[in-house]
Amino acid sequence: MQIKTQKQLLLALLLSLIAGISYADSDDDKGWWPFGKKARGYQAANTNQPEYSFECGACHMPYPAQLLPKAGWQRILGSLDDHFGEDATLTKTPVAEIEAYLLANAADSENAGKFSNLLRGLKTADPIRITELPYYKHKHDEIDSKRMVLNNPDVGSFSECNACHDKAKEGTFDEHTVKIPNFNKRDY
Ligand code: HEC
Ligand code: HEC
Repeated sequence: MQIKTQKQLLLALLLSLIAGISYADSDDDKGWWPFGKKARGYQAANTNQPEYSFECGACHMPYPAQLLPKAGWQRILGSLDDHFGEDATLTKTPVAEIEAYLLANAADSENAGKFSNLLRGLKTADPIRITELPYYKHKHDEIDSKRMVLNNPDVGSFSECNACHDKAKEGTFDEHTVKIPNFNKRDY
């Protein structure tokens, strides 16, 4: 009799755990799940990194570490002399310092917060393009890329996060801080 009750208790605990996890993993922000970091919005932690901004923010905004998994950052750091066709070799900072920041805050680190969603449906373990992550595409699939991005003089490329996400440099990507230049909210 007692064993039976324990089993039932265990089962109930297990079920509620599964329910909690899958709910927290859903896209809905209004969940009741009060524990994990997922409840927060898209706000990247630890973005104030002067050395990183100096080395990796000259040609595009310094992408917060949360936007790629560790293996992707390592692949990027391993081929800086041919970085998307450009030479992005570090000038002042030891690569280990940049690497430490990126790995400690990557999409698969404990500081990922809600950005761990970016790991969903990955096709390779070490992607180097944020804009080609399946979850990134899913979040931007309603944007008319020709009109609103490529031919938009104030955007030009999906890689220019900060053109639409006003506070991207501070790591804020919440949908409430998005504005596509030259278009009205009702257009997208
Ligand atoms: C010399 C200029 C330059 C520097 C310096 C540079 N990058 Fe880049 N980066 C580029 C270019 C060019 C692209 C491709 C942009 C495009 O295709 O629109 C790119 C793309 C990227 C992307 C992919 C963006 C996407 O489209 O999803 C990541 C991630 C990235 N860089 C990280 C870094 C990191 C980390 C550093 C510092 C170690 C760095 N970059 C320094 C020029 C630079
Ligand atoms: C052309 C404008 C534009 C560019 C460029 C852009 N985004 Fe977005 N982003 C949007 C819009 C619009 C949404 C959808 C907001 C909504 O769901 O209402 C969005 C949504 C998001 C979301 C989900 C926000 C939420 O609360 O659900 C994330 C995360 C995000 N973008 C990250 C990025 C990153 C990282 C980059 C750069 C690599 C980027 N975006 C570039 C327009 C843009």
